[in-house]
Amino acid sequence: LFGTERLNSKGLDLSDAVQLSEIGKDVQKFANEGWHGGPIIGGVEQIGTTHPVTSPNDRRNKVGDIAWASTEQAENALARADRAWWGWDQTPATKRGNCLDRMADLLEENTAEFIALCMREAGKTTADAIAEIREAVDFCRYYAVKCRQDFGDPLVMPGPTGERNELSMHGRGVFLCISPWNFPLAIFLGQVSAALAAGNAVIAKPAEQTGLVAVKAIKLFHQAGVPGDVLHLLPGDGPTVAGPLLADDRIKGVAFTGSTETAKLIQRALAAREGEIVPLIAETGGQNAMIVDSTALPEQIVRDVLASSFQSAGQRCSALRVLFLQEDVADKILTMLAGAMDELTIGDSTQLSTDVGPVIDEEALAMLNAHISHMKTQAKVIRELPLPPSASNGSFVAPVAFEIEGLGQLKQEVFGPVLHVIRYKASELDSIIDQINNSGFGLTLGIHSRIDETVDYISRRVRVGNTYVNRNQIGAIVGVQPFGGMGLSGTGPKAGGPRYLHRFATEHSISIDT
Ligand code: NAD
Ligand code: ALA
Repeated sequence: LFGTERLNSKGLDLSDAVQLSEIGKDVQKFANEGWHGGPIIGGVEQIGTTHPVTSPNDRRNKVGDIAWASTEQAENALARADRAWWGWDQTPATKRGNCLDRMADLLEENTAEFIALCMREAGKTTADAIAEIREAVDFCRYYAVKCRQDFGDPLVMPGPTGERNELSMHGRGVFLCISPWNFPLAIFLGQVSAALAAGNAVIAKPAEQTGLVAVKAIKLFHQAGVPGDVLHLLPGDGPTVAGPLLADDRIKGVAFTGSTETAKLIQRALAAREGEIVPLIAETGGQNAMIVDSTALPEQIVRDVLASSFQSAGQRCSALRVLFLQEDVADKILTMLAGAMDELTIGDSTQLSTDVGPVIDEEALAMLNAHISHMKTQAKVIRELPLPPSASNGSFVAPVAFEIEGLGQLKQEVFGPVLHVIRYKASELDSIIDQINNSGFGLTLGIHSRIDETVDYISRRVRVGNTYVNRNQIGAIVGVQPFGGMGLSGTGPKAGGPRYLHRFATEHSISIDT
């Protein structure tokens, strides 16, 4: 419960046979659906040259077609958004908040279709697709509350001046929201709903791989009451579609989630402008570690390592990449981990029995396979699972765990189901902490220990945005576990946190001599 105004979405309970059967039937209706979409400008879907969308589960399975935005369409969207933003900013916060609440309701009403879309277009498992929708609903409802709280009546600032002093919050203008494919609904809508809540007009640029989820979501946002000229969608290639917008002074802020490399390109593009200084909110990659000491519970460690490394095929920015195991317990834990990995089911993510679905595309597949081949030349394989024969039509990587010597062997984020394990002696704890901090990334950290002083010692020294103790390190809950990193992992503020909307806003202080 957040105050008395908001409950987190319950999502769906997959262990409830009745719920499962009902949602299964509803999702099945979309098993052969073909979705079609394109840019949405001024509330109207645009026509253009379309690109076929196929499923990462099986490239023979066509999900639909999408038209990518042209430069002219991007300019049209920007001009309309620029004219519309002030009216939206002047719309009472209660009304803006109500649009977000209505959007949350519409998302829930369309759960079955979104599950099908997320499974087929993005290769999500059923559990991940359900969690994705739940998180998107939570973002809308949480930011609705925050909008009403912080953007409603101005704050009266008492003081000695004898004047009436008020502080109010407003949108900045047109916000460009650029999102990744790995949370095609939750992160996409998290950015858009925050920017709208704060009183901005929005141009949303979804990832190339997951435009159809975005099309469906934006149509619902318009249905929820957001005016067409306040919210536009421009699917397409990042540099082509977003490049000219980043150079345009009418864009007053950028919310970006994706790779650290792209965030830096965007930062440079914004800095190269002649005009105003505009904020960049960037949530980027991680080289996330878990530190396990010899007092931790083996069964719990194995369960949490499995979820943190291999759920979502390891395609979460929060996922565990490097497991530090204290040497006294390492052999035992690794034997148990290898056995538990053998129980994972790899395959088509639309099957309920699947634990590990595909990676997003052929490019990701090639990068991961290159990394795995390289690791085989310089690390010990703890376990590599075989791929099922059905995997050959999609982009699948079998979960694999390597034992390596040090963090220096990993030069960049490895975005897939690949775990690296490093043994350490108790006397080396400080050196591990230094290695993690020196990587420059600072997103998530896992700690498994039953000694409170150890937990406290590590968590005070490792510089990350989210630390998880004696549990897995993925799946932050909106409004409860605000999420986001530091350093190479992002600028903050934390998504789903109480101060997120503020970075999308400007503050206005007015002093009136009474
Ligand atoms: P990406 O950086 O390749 O693409 C992200 C978005 O940026 C896409 O919409 C893309 O079209 C756009 N883009 C690409 N080049 C651009 C350019 N030159 N100018 C403007 N826009 C451009 O990332 P991805 O592969 O889609 O996503 C995976 C990455 O996202 C991983 O690094 C992961 O760690 C990160 N991620 C971070 C978080 C977080 O909260 N920290 C959450 C999810 C994903
Ligand atoms: N918020 C997502 C997670 O915590 C990225 O896994």
